[in-house]
Amino acid sequence: MEIRWLGHSAFEITSDKGIKILIDPFISNNPSCQVPVEELNPDLICVTHGHVDHFGDAMEISNSQSVPVVANHEISLYLSNQGIENVSMNIGGSIVFRDIKITMLDAKHSSDIDFVEDTIPGGSAASFLITLEDGTKIFHSGDTGLFRDMETVIGEIYKPDIAIVPIGDKFTMGPFEGALATMWLNPKLAIPMHYDTYPVIEQDPLVYSNFVKQLNPKIDVLVLNSGEFYEYNFESYEE
Ligand code: NI
Ligand code: MN
Repeated sequence: MEIRWLGHSAFEITSDKGIKILIDPFISNNPSCQVPVEELNPDLICVTHGHVDHFGDAMEISNSQSVPVVANHEISLYLSNQGIENVSMNIGGSIVFRDIKITMLDAKHSSDIDFVEDTIPGGSAASFLITLEDGTKIFHSGDTGLFRDMETVIGEIYKPDIAIVPIGDKFTMGPFEGALATMWLNPKLAIPMHYDTYPVIEQDPLVYSNFVKQLNPKIDVLVLNSGEFYEYNFESYEE
């Protein structure tokens, strides 16, 4: 499978069977995304919460390409009102889309739909665990602070192979909290996100990766450039 970072929290995951899942599609107004929105052709869009830097182009892409948007109940209601194809789910539940399992899990953040004239309550912020056809599990934490269930629930029960965590600070965890979260989630590979998009969330990802190295040297950290693809080989990580 292949992962592409599109800057900020936007990631495209392509399974071995070629199914593309786009998470938090903040593309056209994302200062760190160089990929034109027309070039993306996902099979499914997942939105972690209602903030514009995550919801992004979800409606436009869904509309122009007839792709459903997976979101929490409140955001799904909003999408239904806008005539946008969607799949409503909530924290703790899973759906299966063409042999790919999508589980919505917790995040400690807010989720108002903040890009409409009068901000609408958007339910709870969430994270996603995506289990591909070959069993590879990718955890995208969304925007979040540190919380203990990262270890006792997400790490120990769901056991992600890859964890994607924010390190930008101010609105989410910073590099140190991100590294602690990474240790708790205990993946084989960790990827930092939600930094350097704007001056207020500027971070050196090496600070994060050095913390991870100190906390658990067995976890590999992958610092991607925006637009970069990474090919993950499940077998090479098997003990
Ligand atoms: Ni947010
Ligand atoms: Mn955000």
